[in-house]
Amino acid sequence: MKEENIIKQYSLDDDGTIDNTIRPETISEYIGQNDVKENIKVFVEAAKMRNEALDHVLLYGPPGLGKTTLAFIIAHEMGTNIKTASGPSIEKSGDLAAILSSLEPGDILFIDEIHRMPRYIEEILYPAMEDFSLDIIVGSEGNSRNIKIDLPPFTLVGATTRAGDLSSPLRDRFGIISKLQFYTTEELCDIVKRTSRVLDMKITDDAAEELAKRSRGTPRIANRLFKRVRDFALVKGTGIIDIKITNEALDRLQIDKIGLDRTDHEMLLAIINKFGGGPVGLEALSSSIGEEPTTIEDVYEPYLLQTGLLKRTARGRVVTDKAYEVLGIERKN
Ligand code: ADE
Repeated sequence: MKEENIIKQYSLDDDGTIDNTIRPETISEYIGQNDVKENIKVFVEAAKMRNEALDHVLLYGPPGLGKTTLAFIIAHEMGTNIKTASGPSIEKSGDLAAILSSLEPGDILFIDEIHRMPRYIEEILYPAMEDFSLDIIVGSEGNSRNIKIDLPPFTLVGATTRAGDLSSPLRDRFGIISKLQFYTTEELCDIVKRTSRVLDMKITDDAAEELAKRSRGTPRIANRLFKRVRDFALVKGTGIIDIKITNEALDRLQIDKIGLDRTDHEMLLAIINKFGGGPVGLEALSSSIGEEPTTIEDVYEPYLLQTGLLKRTARGRVVTDKAYEVLGIERKN
């Protein structure tokens, strides 16, 4: 893969659309994740006072909580450039060597889905992170030698949905490790209102709250739903987003009152109807609903676990009494 395909100077939005207008650019615009934010503010300020690159940062947590946004904000607050790549796009050691040798002093290198980087490539990162040194082998087989190239001080910001999948040597080289949490309804409400101002589309307070409640604690979902409800408001409503059009649009999109979508329902119902409420193994559940095990684990499960609708036990996934209640199903066993 060519270098320009691997390094993206500015990324697509998290959901693949080009819309960076609603991304906050500064840390003061970023809503929620207060502990992470306060700590990062201190580390950024200290690095600037010392005139050093910020220590390497690992951001982890479920998709859509703002890991990429935070990486761009860190670059903004440090006043540096950011180059982005994603774990699976780095296929050869030369790919990573090319990215690393293109860095300027203080640059941020953001690697999304860093857990999906092959292990032999990961090993190039160890000396790069620790000593700002690129150790590569040059020459052909039988006539090869190791050379060491000095790199400028830089900051690696890694993002992952699965911190547990990172090898410990890699994890140990991050000086700052932050876990992003699901957002509260109040925080999502503020995010929705901010999006409403940025996109210049009015939303009433009760509609913003309803949207927030149905967004699975996730800003990416809140912003996506905002855009769809905005379409309904324009075409079928009054031109502003009120509670009536919000309920109508979200019902049509099959998002329930607590934000569960069709796949969430399918998953809970499969466990109840096909596996007697559980326990069921991940593989069996995956083939039963036709979703990849990793999608179940990374995208669907975290919120169901957080809301107490699902439990993970040593023997598999189990649906809770609360899930029966929410789905309006009587428990038979
Ligand atoms: N848009 C997406 N995530 C956000 C956040 N945490 N704060 C403000 N706007 C956002």
